[in-house]
Amino acid sequence: MKLYSQEQLEAFGLSGLLPEHVAIIMDGNGRWAKQRGLPRPLGHRAGMERLKGIIRLTSELGIRALSLYAFSTENWRRPKEEIGALFGLLVEYFTSELNELHKNEVCIRVLGDIAPFPEIVREAINCAIAKTISNKGLKLNIALNYGGQNELLRATRALLQEIIKNGLIQEEINLEQLEAKLDTVGLPAVDLLIRTGGEQRLSNFLLYQSAYAELMFLEEFWPDFSNECYLNALRAYQKRTRRYGGL
Ligand code: IPE
Ligand code: IPE
Ligand code: MG
Repeated sequence: MKLYSQEQLEAFGLSGLLPEHVAIIMDGNGRWAKQRGLPRPLGHRAGMERLKGIIRLTSELGIRALSLYAFSTENWRRPKEEIGALFGLLVEYFTSELNELHKNEVCIRVLGDIAPFPEIVREAINCAIAKTISNKGLKLNIALNYGGQNELLRATRALLQEIIKNGLIQEEINLEQLEAKLDTVGLPAVDLLIRTGGEQRLSNFLLYQSAYAELMFLEEFWPDFSNECYLNALRAYQKRTRRYGGL
């Protein structure tokens, strides 16, 4: 597994603390394709190609966790042809990239509920999760049929079930127990949230986990989000002052 040294990071202009957890809303694939007179699925394919480079760089920088928004609970509203094309790309991605990811000690996890996905997609995803489960490198979280509101609902239900089972009283319930029921259990809070494609909204992504995230809304469409754009965002992150309500 390649990991940059402190000197190499400094050569990139990264001298301070890197975020522990980066979250990315990979938006703009459709508009990227439209700009070129291409069908939207080709924009998603270009987006997938870019994804590979960003994952590799994140892993080499030694960032602990990367969460990528790939399919939201609201994306079911899209035409079924586009959804089908996205499913096809998911299978292709998890199948063709698995060995490379495993070699780099990447540990794959899904955020969201993939139960409604076709079996072939679930199989490819579950196989990738199982193979990489013990890897100690980058924690790569792919958000699929994910929505922050749905996650909080599922977490609440799971917590309630535990409360009933263990006979807990209301005052005994704390944030730690709620966090233990989130899809991101065990991961640090989001430090840096990047959205490409120019929109300035969260679109239901990691609502709880981004409570104190530094937000960056960038104009580039996702397929145009180069390693240099990413490094720029990390450099900008290092210049921010995080106060968490203090002084
Ligand atoms: C984001 O790109 C990828 C997914 C939602 C799967 P879009 O498909 O939303 O691209 P735009 O926003 O229409 O350009
Ligand atoms: C957010 O992008 C979801 C993903 C990137 C997977 P959308 O394109 O679905 O978001 P809206 O509809 O513009 O808010
Ligand atoms: Mg979009």
